[in-house]
This record gives sequence, structure tokens and C-alpha cells, in this order.
Amino acid sequence: MIVPKFGMGTFRLSGQTLIDSVTTALEVGYRAVDTAQIYANEADVGQAIAESPVQRNDLFITTKIWTEHYAPEKLISSLKDSLQKLRTDAVNLTLIHWPAPKLGVSIAEVMQALLQAKQQGLTEHIGISNFNIELTQQAIECIGREHIATNQIELSPYLQNHRLIEFLQSQNIDVTSYMTLAYGKVLNDPVLQEIAAQHQASSAQIALAWALQQGFAVIPSSTQREHMMANFAAQDIQLTQEEMAAIRHLERNGREVNPEALAPLWDED
Ligand SMILES: NC(=O)c1ccc[n+]([C@@H]2O[C@H](COP(=O)([O-])OP(=O)(O)OC[C@H]3O[C@@H](n4cnc5c(N)ncnc54)[C@H](OP(=O)(O)O)[C@@H]3O)[C@@H](O)[C@H]2O)c1
Repeated sequence: MIVPKFGMGTFRLSGQTLIDSVTTALEVGYRAVDTAQIYANEADVGQAIAESPVQRNDLFITTKIWTEHYAPEKLISSLKDSLQKLRTDAVNLTLIHWPAPKLGVSIAEVMQALLQAKQQGLTEHIGISNFNIELTQQAIECIGREHIATNQIELSPYLQNHRLIEFLQSQNIDVTSYMTLAYGKVLNDPVLQEIAAQHQASSAQIALAWALQQGFAVIPSSTQREHMMANFAAQDIQLTQEEMAAIRHLERNGREVNPEALAPLWDED
């Protein structure tokens, strides 16, 4: 697996809140941070990392290219801006944030430009985000699956993406689950709460353990040290086959993020 199994999400966080959250996450033991150009917090991430005693070599930083930078001549210069804000010579992973088929984006052009960024040493790995099966296939045809480290997708007990997962695993592409907690919606789920009670854990931990146990990377975000510690400790929870099966039944096509202009036609399970 190229993508670290556990990382810190930073969507919606900026300024001192972001700096404090990333600093705390690094203290707790996180070594991967997920940001994006559109989050407008890369400079804050850069500051938190620069001020941390953790060495850059021990960190895995992911950013994502925003749609307005998809033109080949813009992608590389926008990534160089991101590197400056993040105070690093290269990120570990750069993703195409959304396939944006309705914007007329050519997958071939954007993937080629991303591959060039990798060849120039601006990013160690490259990948995609929010791609469906068909667009992932197109990306593979353009640059080869060996260059696609991950597809970062919304994935929680309420949105399990079985068909897409099966395809990604058949292609040896890492799955990164974002919004594994469905932005808090799964926390009050009675099935997760019942399983949590068996493990002296919380429902958030059970949702994360469920994703990790399937081999997915997770990037929950939090501003609270206790939540970060609990989430990180979910790596130690082992769910039984019966518990995994019970969570499988929670599927309800519960998609939280679906921007009309950017989203592909999602694969139905
Ligand atoms: N590629 C994409 O298009 C895309 C889209 C969306 C998100 N993402 C990435 O995925 C990351 C995660 O998604 P997200 O931040 O939207 O949602 P999330 O991780 O599902 O949920 C975060 C929310 O859950 C709360 N929380 C976290 N741990 C908790 C715990 N142990 N107990 C109770 N509450 C807890 C947090 O509040 P507290 O601060 O109070 O802990 C926060 O409100 C983002 O930060 C971003 O990096 C990527």
C-alpha cells in the first residue's frame, strides 16, 4: 500500500484552528496530512509542519489539484504554488480532486499533466479522487495503473461503494475513504453503537476500524485531541466476521458530497 493507512483530514479547517489541529495530530502520532488547493489552508498546514519536531521525511503530505488548474499549462504551476505554501520541495501524493466531466475536462490531458508533475519530481505519487469506474478506466488507459496510487472516495458504513471498490482492488489501486464518519452522521447509528459497546469503543472508532479492516486508508478530521487519540486507536480494533457483516447491512447510498457541476455519474451498487 502506498497511501498510509491513517491520516488527518483538513477540509473546513483553516487558520489557528487548522494549525492547532495538525499540531495535535502530529503529537498524537499521525504522520499523514490530507489537504487540497480548494481548502485554502495549505499555508497553515505548511506552518504547522514547519513548527513541528516531526521531520519532513517522516511525513506523508497529500494535496489535490482544483478544477480551475486542470489545463496542462496551469496544473504544474499551481502545484508549485502549493509546494511553496506547504514549505516543501515535493508532496508525497497529488490527486485530481474531481473528474468534472461537465466542465469538459479531458481526463487524458489532466492525467498527462499530473504525470509530468511526477516526472519533474514535484510529487512522489499521483492519483485521483471522486472518479467512478469508467473515468478510472480512462485514467488507467492514459497513464497506466502503476502510476495511479489511489482513488480517494467518499466511503462510510452508509455508502459502501462495493462495485467501485471491487474494480479498484482488481487494478491494485489503493482505496482512500474520505468522510468515513459521514461527517458525524454514523455516530448515532444503533448497530455501530451496539458493536462499540462490545469493544469498549465508540461508534466513530468502529466505523474507522471497519474501513481499515477492509484495507482502506482513512483520513478523519478532528479538532479535538480526545477524538484524534480515539480515532488513531481504532487501528487496534479487530472486528469479527459477524460484526463486519452487520455493518455491511447499513448501506443506504448515504452520499454527503455530490457537487452537481463536478461529480461523475456514480456507480450504483
Ligand atoms: N476528496 C474529496 O473530495 C474530499 C471530500 C471531503 C472530505 N475529504 C477529506 O476527508 C477528510 C474527512 O472528511 P470530513 O472532515 O468532511 O468528515 P469526517 O472525517 O467524516 O467527520 C469529521 C467530523 O467528525 C467529528 N469527529 C471526528 N472524530 C470524532 C470522534 N471520535 N467522535 C465524535 N466526533 C468525531 C469531527 O468533529 P470534532 O472536530 O469535534 O472532532 C468533525 O465534525 C476531510 O477533512 C478531507 O481531508 C476529501
